[in-house]
Amino acid sequence: MRTKIVAGNWKMNNNRDETETLLAELSAKLPDTDAQVIVAPTFVNLEVSTRALESSTIEVAAQNMHFAENGAYTGEISADMLLNIGVDTVILGHSERRAYFGETDELLAKKVKTAVDKHMKVIFCFGEELEERKSGNHFSVVENQLKNGLFHLDAQAWKHIVLAYEPVWAIGTGETASPEQAQEMHAFIRNTIAKKYNDSVADAVSILYGGSVKPNNASDIFSKPDVDGGLIGGASLKADDFVAIIKAI
Ligand code: G3P
Repeated sequence: MRTKIVAGNWKMNNNRDETETLLAELSAKLPDTDAQVIVAPTFVNLEVSTRALESSTIEVAAQNMHFAENGAYTGEISADMLLNIGVDTVILGHSERRAYFGETDELLAKKVKTAVDKHMKVIFCFGEELEERKSGNHFSVVENQLKNGLFHLDAQAWKHIVLAYEPVWAIGTGETASPEQAQEMHAFIRNTIAKKYNDSVADAVSILYGGSVKPNNASDIFSKPDVDGGLIGGASLKADDFVAIIKAI
């Protein structure tokens, strides 16, 4: 049985006070759910978040991490720095980091290896651009992102991996992938993993959908057999919307 997950990627939003306010509201309104609920505040608010949620089932994730143990990497954060404040989950490969900060598959493979070596949970993001879908190359693009970013791992390491398929054309646009589009790609992703590893690894990995998930479309997307939850951006910044999406899983 795969783990159902609803994760909120706050991106560069909420100062410390806003973080505390949102987490207090979310904690108070959190419904009973079998799903794992995760929030990903900015680095500066991780510790206040772990403190605010210490008696909650809500988990805290970082939005990024460097691959090095430590050193001359101005502005970066290491795995040990995250673990030391009780954060053992990290989002890697988000399309905004690939686009704005030039994160390559090769760099991401290094970050994934470090996170797995440190026994962290990785939410690995990938997805095609609109032009790539329009030209019918979306499956090969996604396959290459998986191969280049993750297929260096052995089968055992996949217990640390959560996948987040986020078609770039759906992120922040309101142009959500249809439930059928999401299911088609998620099934392709699962089949690609099965061919590389085996059915056991493929069946166990949670594959989240991300890209304009809202309270009014979450249920239809989450109802698909190979969709195991969502990675939510804008709608995770409003407690009522995020709670409505959690209720939909
Ligand atoms: O990581 C999740 C994010 O990229 C999706 O953003 O605002 O389309 O839900 P949004």
